[in-house]
Amino acid sequence: MTGVFDSGRGGLTAVKELLKIAPDAGIVYFGDTGRVPYGTRSRETIISYALQDVRFLESRKVDAILIACGTVSSTAFDELCAASQLPITGVVDVTADAALAATRNGRVGIIGTPATVKSDAYTTRIHSQDPAIETLCVACPLFVPLVEEGMTSPDCEITRLAVERYLAPLKEAGIDTLILGCTHYPVLADAISAYLPGVTLINSGAEAARAMVERFPAEVRDGGGVSYFVSDAVGNFERSASIFLGHSVTGKVEQIDIEKY
Ligand code: DGL
Repeated sequence: MTGVFDSGRGGLTAVKELLKIAPDAGIVYFGDTGRVPYGTRSRETIISYALQDVRFLESRKVDAILIACGTVSSTAFDELCAASQLPITGVVDVTADAALAATRNGRVGIIGTPATVKSDAYTTRIHSQDPAIETLCVACPLFVPLVEEGMTSPDCEITRLAVERYLAPLKEAGIDTLILGCTHYPVLADAISAYLPGVTLINSGAEAARAMVERFPAEVRDGGGVSYFVSDAVGNFERSASIFLGHSVTGKVEQIDIEKY
């Protein structure tokens, strides 16, 4: 059984890919919907929230954990690995490596939450593999609330303006590859591509999911089905989860008190 967690619904982009590759997957998903967003919080708060998330998944007897959150992967990865006996996979290294494989002109853009950008984790990984790559990292703090509100269409004027405002420097820099360094962002892919046509988008949730199936095939493919847990009202999650997953999760979601872990 695989544990997957995020600050909210963003990690569902990883669940979607896991289920695409392994329809027989056994997944326990936790979305910390009562405390989202994480990406505008301090490093200390992100680490303490993420430790509780891992303890909750451990209590559900998972065999391996996927941090389906760019903010936690870039800010708290070492702390979580030190605190848990379970194998833990984050989104940063595999996503950075996919961008390296995709770029042709050596100019890679990275977008993420303020905490992810502050950590410099994606750039550090890219430069450890190829120091000649030019990277430009931009924080997009309004993207997570837009996604959580379901305002994801390229036809939504507010979304279009936010995309233009944040991505203008990346357009000017002539990037050919863009890391969606937050797992919420793939839902904005159409709006982003409308502004950056021809730029290859790298989906961090999907990359991490593929790595997870490769590394832990038995733990992922255990036929256990998917159960969802959240720290806020079930109904809100059920309503918006289909935007991420493309199918309904009604009846499969349970609310828990994350402060107990
Ligand atoms: N999906 C999370 C991430 O990848 C969202 C961050 C947040 O809660 O601010 O970073």
